[in-house]
Amino acid sequence: MQTIIEFQHVQKRYGDKVALDDFNLLIEKGEFVTIVGSSGCGKTTALKLVNSLLVPDAGKILIKGEDIREKDQTQLRRKIGYAIQGSVLFPHMTVEQNISYVPNLLNRKNRQKTREAVDKWMKIVGLEAEMKERYPAQLSGGQQQRVGIARALAASPEILLMDEPFGAVDEITRAQLQTELQRIYRQTGITVLFVTHDISEALKLGTKVLVMDRGEIQQYAPPQEILSHPATEFVRKLSEQQRRICRLPEERLRDCEYSTAACAHASLEGGNRDDTQ
Ligand SMILES: Nc1ncnc2c1ncn2[C@@H]1O[C@H](COP(=O)(O)OP(=O)(O)O)[C@@H](O)[C@H]1O
Ligand SMILES: [Mg+2]
Repeated sequence: MQTIIEFQHVQKRYGDKVALDDFNLLIEKGEFVTIVGSSGCGKTTALKLVNSLLVPDAGKILIKGEDIREKDQTQLRRKIGYAIQGSVLFPHMTVEQNISYVPNLLNRKNRQKTREAVDKWMKIVGLEAEMKERYPAQLSGGQQQRVGIARALAASPEILLMDEPFGAVDEITRAQLQTELQRIYRQTGITVLFVTHDISEALKLGTKVLVMDRGEIQQYAPPQEILSHPATEFVRKLSEQQRRICRLPEERLRDCEYSTAACAHASLEGGNRDDTQ
């Protein structure tokens, strides 16, 4: 496996407040990394360091072995898709203009290529073509989120950063978006860093889960291992929460596949529905 992103002894401070200290992490190409932890633990900070929206106070970040500080920052950001919670669409631009913003910058001379990219990504994220001419205010929260994802993907980046992207939508839309994102991930082989404060979402989506607490990495492991071998007390408590959702006793924890859907399935089969704790 090839390493795509590497944090080396990274420190990030805001004034006197140390958000990340001696942060070390290797991410392999093609992983879907979910980053989970309580509010204020440094998730957003870690993500923004990858596309240089923040600069480390010490240490460095490498992408494919190259220090990102030595790269052209604009070029870097165009190669990394970034989707965040809520509407960050340009309100005065139509859906089509929003999605084609970065591709237009990249293929200045090839409008046809951009148009094709817009059509392709709208289809993939489940937006009907007739929505192209609408403005963000004319879309539901879930549709805006889809446009945000299409926009982040339209330049075919190798890395996709997502910061609580489904936080502001209802449960049903969220489940749909999760499924779509998993499909996109499988189709494209893109490397995803996905921040969430929801352990179920982290375990469901991630091929690897990074559990953080107060700027420190508690564990970085596949979902199954987080559940079966929590590395710290903090992770154990988190995985207990998930176990309660699964409603499975200790010895059947292995059946609790990381996906919530699989949990529901295992729980029904095991007849543990009344075991509400
Ligand atoms: N611009 C800022 N100025 C001062 N403190 C900040 C700033 N951004 C984040 N912090 C602090 O750094 C810590 C980590 O923040 P953040 O990475 O946003 O956490 P998370 O995304 O996990 O909620 C928090 O304690 C937060 O209050
Ligand atoms: Mg955050």
